[in-house]
Amino acid sequence: MLEEIESIKVSAIKELQACSDSRRLAELKSKYLGRKGQLTRMFRAIADMPAEQRPIVGKAAGEAKKAILEKIKEVSSDLETREAGRTPAFFDVTLPGRKLPLGRKHPLTLVTEEIIYIFHGMGFSLVDGPEVETEYYNFDALNTPADHPSRDIQDTFYLENGQLLRTHTSPVQIRVMEKQRPPVRIIHAGRCYRRDTPDATHSPNFHQVEGLYVDTDVTMADLKGVLTTFARQLLGRGAKVRLRPHFFPFTEPSVEYDFSCVVCEGKGCKLCEGTGWLEIAGAGMVDPNVFEKVGYDAERYSGFAFGMGIERIAMIKYGIDDVRLFYENDLRFVEQF
Ligand code: PHE
Repeated sequence: MLEEIESIKVSAIKELQACSDSRRLAELKSKYLGRKGQLTRMFRAIADMPAEQRPIVGKAAGEAKKAILEKIKEVSSDLETREAGRTPAFFDVTLPGRKLPLGRKHPLTLVTEEIIYIFHGMGFSLVDGPEVETEYYNFDALNTPADHPSRDIQDTFYLENGQLLRTHTSPVQIRVMEKQRPPVRIIHAGRCYRRDTPDATHSPNFHQVEGLYVDTDVTMADLKGVLTTFARQLLGRGAKVRLRPHFFPFTEPSVEYDFSCVVCEGKGCKLCEGTGWLEIAGAGMVDPNVFEKVGYDAERYSGFAFGMGIERIAMIKYGIDDVRLFYENDLRFVEQF
C-alpha cells in the first residue's frame, strides 16, 4: 500500500512536470485528486484498514497529496506567466510592416509652390494677407470707383458687417505698400471669391497669385522680362509672352498677358482655340492714384503689378479641362499628381 502511494505520487509529479497547458493540468488534477482519482481511492481504502496500520498509511497518503497539490500550484503559476507572456508569439515578428497610405499634395498646392519658388528666384518675397477684406482695400484704394461693375452685389460676397470676401489678391498690394517703403518686391498667393455659377471654367472660390514690384525706374520692359522668365521656368525654355492692351482701374497702362500655347507651341490647336496663345491674366504699371493712396511719391517711384489665376495655370500645366475637378477631392483625380 505504501509502495502504491509512493508510485502514484511519483507518476503524478512526473506527469505534472511535463504538463504544458492548463487543460491538461485540470485533467491531471482530476486523475489523481478528483472524486475517482487514484489518490482519493487510496484514502477510501485506508478507512477499511486495520486500525494500527491506518496512521502510517494515512500519513503517507496525506504527504503524497500535499506534494501533488504543491506541484499543481507551481505548474499552474508557471503556465499562467507563460500563457500571458505568449501574446507576442501570435505575431510573426519577421513579417514586413503594414504600409500606411501616404498623402500627397493637391495639384493647386503643387502649382502654387512652384510659382512662388520661381518668383523667389527673381527676388520676390512671399507675403500674406486676409481673405476677409474691407471695401477700402478691395476697391477704393485700388482706384476702383463706387460705380464699378465688379463691386456689384452680383460679383462680390458681402458680409453682414459690411466687410466682404476679397474678389482678387490685389488688396495685398495696398497692405504691403502701407507698411513698407520702396523698393518693394513681393508675391502673394491665396483664395479669392466671386459670385460665379460653377462651370468648367468658373468657381465661386478660386486662387490667385499677386506680384508687385516698386522702385525707381521700373518699366514695362521689366514687367515683360519678369513674366517671360516666369513663363520659361514654368513651361519650358521655348515659352513666349505676349502683352495685349486692357483696362484695370489700378494699373495704367494695363495689359492682359498670354503665354504661347504649351500644346502646339503657337501653331494653333484645340487648347488655344487656334490662336497659338493662352490667356493667363492681367498686369500693368501701378496707377499713380494707387501710389497716392499709400503715400508713395508717383514722380519718384514706378512699379508694376500682375495677377494670375492658379487654377488656370494648373489646368494648362497638367492638361485639366474642368476647374471643378480641383474641388471635388476625387481620389482618382488627386492621386495623379
Ligand atoms: N486683380 C486683377 C484681377 O483679378 C488682376 C491684376 C492684378 C491686374 C494686378 C493688374 C495688376 O483680374
